[in-house]
Parts: sequence; structure tokens; C-alpha cells
Amino acid sequence: MRVTGLGHAGLFIETAAGSVLCDPWVNPAFFGSWFPFPDNTDLDWAHYGRAADYLYVSHLHRDHFDAENLRRNVRKDVTVLLPAFATDELERELRALGFTNFLHTRSGTPVERDGLRIMITALTGPGDGPIGDSALSLDDGRSVLLNQNDAHPLDIAAIRDFGEVDAYFVQFSGAIWYPMVYQLPHSAKKEFAARKRQGQFDRALRYIDAVEAKHVFPNAGPPCFLDDELFEHNGTGRDGESIFVDQLEFLRQLGRARPEVAAHLLLPGTVAEPESTACKLSHRYTEMEIERVFGEKRAYLRDFAARQQPALAAERASRAPALPRERLLSELKQWWEPLLTRADRICAGVGGPARLDVGDVPIVIDFPAREVRLWDGERCRYTLSTSADLVATNIARREVDWSNSLLLSMRFTASRIGPYNEFLYVFFKCLSMERIEYVENYYDSCQDDGQDIELDGWRVQRRCPHLRADLERFGQIEGEVLTCTLHGWRYDLSTGRCLTSDGHDIRASAVS
Ligand code: FES
Repeated sequence: MRVTGLGHAGLFIETAAGSVLCDPWVNPAFFGSWFPFPDNTDLDWAHYGRAADYLYVSHLHRDHFDAENLRRNVRKDVTVLLPAFATDELERELRALGFTNFLHTRSGTPVERDGLRIMITALTGPGDGPIGDSALSLDDGRSVLLNQNDAHPLDIAAIRDFGEVDAYFVQFSGAIWYPMVYQLPHSAKKEFAARKRQGQFDRALRYIDAVEAKHVFPNAGPPCFLDDELFEHNGTGRDGESIFVDQLEFLRQLGRARPEVAAHLLLPGTVAEPESTACKLSHRYTEMEIERVFGEKRAYLRDFAARQQPALAAERASRAPALPRERLLSELKQWWEPLLTRADRICAGVGGPARLDVGDVPIVIDFPAREVRLWDGERCRYTLSTSADLVATNIARREVDWSNSLLLSMRFTASRIGPYNEFLYVFFKCLSMERIEYVENYYDSCQDDGQDIELDGWRVQRRCPHLRADLERFGQIEGEVLTCTLHGWRYDLSTGRCLTSDGHDIRASAVS
């Protein structure tokens, strides 16, 4: 098996039984905010798009699903390996680009095609990517590969049953706006960013320990930010207030924590040939270039930014103009109020009005009243503020997932009183009746199954109230606080209160 890194989560996998092009992302995503790091624009994309037998797009986030690259460079008769998501949006988007040949998979069930065993593990919770994320396992009879992308599969044993993993591509860096966009004192932001980075590292380490692959490749990140407005979010920020750890930083930290793990640097154009315990690696970059990319990162990024000014200008020019106040309000009312009417669990979960400042227009999404209106001075626990052209563009494009456009763009600020509220962000990613229906039904079906486990002197419900991780495996107790290490959500066991997000309490009692 021979794997070429294409940048971010992009891979070109050549096997004894065909080749697979994965997540080929090159064009800026999320309103021109994210670019792959390092630069991958000079790869021969037409070659990879022509040579692939299979295309795999792990999910619809725009740093994985690059419509322009897929349209321009990938053969339309390639066989698309399709995860079993709850909605068919990914297939619809690919069909709209001209793809016609789909291999529908069942989550966690291997299929064989011309000597290549393929398994896609699909994650379908409201918190999984844009309501759908996936991991790919491949076996060509000689080697087994696991490409995890952004997915956080719960059942590693099932993934290992597919075959002992030779090459494991693990997500390691940040892919969220927290805490950078929050209006917090600098010291608090720095502290939260440090905790976030540590949480990301701990999660990657847990997966590395569980998968026990012969070779590990940090993959699927970090993005870089080339617009002046966002430049300071690069890496770990000016002073530790950002979360985008790079490949070398991760490899160094992993080397300290697990010196026995064979982990390798994969950059755009790097070719890796894992064979049993050996792995031949050829970089397209020279050693001096690698030193410049990572050792002189700011200067490298400034040069990259200079080359990307035309792309940034084109993105800005593509935005819709700001809407007048009355029109903005009526558009959002007509669109969102029918959704709020159906969104019982989301509205109960948010539990109050949330403010959305669009330029100088303060709007309130009144979740209890299921209404969108102008702010009338009431206290709101959650406030998001952004610019009017971005909202107008989302309205013009009928963007059903604002986390996959506005929020990941980080072109907004946020403040809140109290803990994070996942329901609020789920609403912003479910701006269609299809998605609201799915998520509301999902919450209904996820009622606690009544099973308890005993952990360090506490009896607690077995399934994490967030996305149902098995707490026997993912739960860690320190004092009276239980942490589910899958996404780091914390619970106060003495009261059952979720410390990470409102409305997700846990059943717990001390064992006498
Ligand atoms: S499943 Fe996400 S924190 Fe437990």
C-alpha cells in the first residue's frame, strides 16, 4: 500500500486492488477563512482525480467536501464510497456535481470490491460533523489502513475486528471556534485554549492506544488562516490563545508520551509505504523547506497569504450585500419560525432567548416562544455577533448548516452566561425541516436505556448523556467530577449536573 498525503485530510491511497482518493481539499473554506496547512495548491490534482478508482468524502464539512476541486478535477464515473448517513445530502451534493456511480455502504459492515475490502464507520449524532461523520477502513490483502478523519467512533473493537491496522491516520488538531471567538479576558482564553489542546491530545492518544497500529500519521489538520482579520488564530496564537497544533508539535508531544509508537510526518506530496514494521517515507519538501514551514511559520504563512490574495478577494466579492433591517428580519422569520415550531427538544434545551447581532441589527431567537424578532432589551444568556454580509449570503444560498459556513469561519464573536449549550449550536446546523426532523427524532430515540455501571465508588448511568459513549470505557472520575474522555464533557456526580453544557444531566449516586 502506498499513501500520498494531499494536505489536511486528503489522501491518495494506492493498493494492490485499486486506488482511493480521500477528502481532496484545496480551495479556501468557510468564507475564505480556512486553508490547508501547509500549502497544497501545487499538487497535480487532475492526476489524482483521473487516476482514482474510488472517491471517498468522509462528510460534508467544506474542508473535506471541496465542491470546486471535485467538479474540476475528479472523474465523474469514479465509484463513490458513500457512508450510511441519516440524510442523503452528501449523495445529493455529489450527484449535483455530476457523480453517478455510488457504492452505498452499511456502517461497520465490510464489503469487498475486486479484492479490496472496504468498511465505512458512520457517525450520525447531532454533534457528529454536519450530522454525519465517518471513518474509512481498507484492506487490500497485504495491509490494513484506517483513515479516521474527524470522526470519533465509539466502537474501536469493531474497527479492529476488520483487521490489525498497519497505517492509522488520526485527527490530532483543533477544528472548532472555541475559545478563540469568545469575548473573554485574555488569561481565561489562554487557559481554555490550553485545556482544549490538552483534551485534543488526550483524545488522539486514547485512540492511538486503542487502535495499536504499526504506523501512525497525524492527519486532518490543522487549518491555517490567511486573511489578515484571522491571521492571529494560526497555530497556538500569539500567546497560547489558539488551538491549532501543527503536525510537528503533535509528533514531538506524542514522542514524549509514547516513544514506542512509530509516528510519521505526512505533508502534501509525502509518499508513505508502510510495510509491516518498516515505513518508507519520501517527502516532496526538502529538509530546509520543512524547517521553514514549521520553524519560520509566520513568515511562511505571510508568503502563502500573499499568494492567496486573489482567492480571498474573489471570495469577498462573491458575498451578498447586507439586507435592510425589515427584509433581514422577515427572511429569518419566514425561514426559522416553522423550524422552531417543530424543534421541541432543541427549544427546551436552549431554554431561553438567544441574541444574534447581524451588523447593527440585534435579533432575538426566542426559543421558548418559537419566534424570531428584534431584541427588546431582555437578558440573553447567549449572544453571537457577526457581519451583515455573511448572514445575507447564508440567506441567499439557503445555507442549512451555519456551523459549516459562518461558525467555522470564526468571523463572529460569542459570549455566554453559564456553560456551553449544545442545543443552540445544533439549531444553527439544522436549518431545514429534514435536519430538524432527524435531530428531534434522534433525541427521542436516545433516551437513557436505564443501565448503570459502578465506577470508583459511584453508580452512574452507562451511556454518556452527550453522544452515548460507554462510560465504562470513556469515564474518568476525579473527586466528584466525572469526565467522559471522548469529547471531554464533565459531570458533577453529587448533583448529576452537566458542567459542560446545560440540559444533559447524568444519573449518579454514591455507592454506600
Ligand atoms: S460522548 Fe461526547 S463527551 Fe461523552
